[in-house]
Amino acid sequence: MNVLVTGGAGFIGANFLRLLVPRHPEHRFVNVDALTYAANPKSLAPIAEAPGYCFERVDITDADAVDRVFATHQPDVVVHFAAESHVDRSILGPKQFLRTNFEGTFNLLEACRKHWQDLGDKVFHHVSTDEVYGSLGTEGFFTEETAYDPSSPYSASKAASDHLVRAWHRTYGLPVKITNCSNNYGPLQFPEKLIPLMILNAVERKPLPIYGEGLNVRDWLYVTDHCEAIWKVVQSGAVGETYNIGGHNEKTNIDVVDALCHLVAEETGVDAAELLALKTFVKDRPGHDMRYAIDATKIERDLGWTPKQTFESGMRETVRWYLANDAWIQDVKSGDYKTWIEANYGDRRDGESAS
Ligand code: NAD
Ligand code: TYD
Repeated sequence: MNVLVTGGAGFIGANFLRLLVPRHPEHRFVNVDALTYAANPKSLAPIAEAPGYCFERVDITDADAVDRVFATHQPDVVVHFAAESHVDRSILGPKQFLRTNFEGTFNLLEACRKHWQDLGDKVFHHVSTDEVYGSLGTEGFFTEETAYDPSSPYSASKAASDHLVRAWHRTYGLPVKITNCSNNYGPLQFPEKLIPLMILNAVERKPLPIYGEGLNVRDWLYVTDHCEAIWKVVQSGAVGETYNIGGHNEKTNIDVVDALCHLVAEETGVDAAELLALKTFVKDRPGHDMRYAIDATKIERDLGWTPKQTFESGMRETVRWYLANDAWIQDVKSGDYKTWIEANYGDRRDGESAS
């Protein structure tokens, strides 16, 4: 089977390939990635020479290039991770989110429609987010029936792409599957997202910027648990269906940051109080969703998926990984990282107060 993975040089895509390429030498995995700031080729080093793996540097907004990749590699399965994925970047510059997340998904769907004559054994798996459902109050969970109500340019662009995927199923009979997952964490995540940003800032004794009062809740899932869930859906999920994925790990941001300070302190032998004192409350994110929480009953019941990592075990693995992989970190920080930190945090300083 030929499996075309888009965005396989990013956080979740690279974890997915590192898990599945060694496990499935009988399949061919083609990684299609534009290598934006969020990608790191070093993430793919463990599989780069595997016989069942190859890489194509292609931008999915380029319809001709996507068409050529389909003609060359004849995929049976597409697992579509490629996206602009960071909410704060979408607030400062939404256009690229519409291009990659909406137009890029459209190009892939059209390539499937053109190249897939026999649909019997084909799957287009669209990787999406729980952020399409908007914000919860203090009670309740997102189910697959929850109405879409996105708040940010990122979640609106992902919601739009989900709608395209469903429309291509209903209108053209394309064999699609969609998963909507909660916040991921783990190795290989670009340090603009909460967890790796806080680990690296704590290690460097830089301020730990907490938006608003830090009471927003996210439902955290270890990245390889997400990857296993996606592969289960690819293999045995029903065509045309949506599955929510989450690990029942609801935490306020402040609790996450406190836990990280204690873990980094334990792992590096410094005093936790020194790291906790770095917490800094800064101006909130506009349109900041209050709470996400996933009801994963459907994937647990229908496909027998359950997460392997607890929040405690996954966070410790994550902290250890960032402490042990300085070369990877220096690579991602050598790009536009400093410019981004200044753009995103520079004008939040007005709202700053020490914890
Ligand atoms: P990421 O930002 O770490 O990686 C995105 C990858 O896509 C990068 O390798 C980048 O080079 C590539 N890419 C971006 N634009 C491209 C383009 N135009 N053409 C080709 N490649 C392009 O993202 P991630 O966190 O790994 O997320 C992967 C997918 O999972 C996304 O679709 C995201 O919406 C979804 N998702 C993420 C989370 C999360 O917590 N990170 C949770 C649920 C769903
Ligand atoms: P993030 O990792 O950007 O994921 P998402 O916005 O997709 O949920 O942020 C997770 C939570 O952490 C979110 O409520 C925003 C908050 N946050 C901070 O408080 N400070 C930060 O510097 C960042 C990046 C996020």
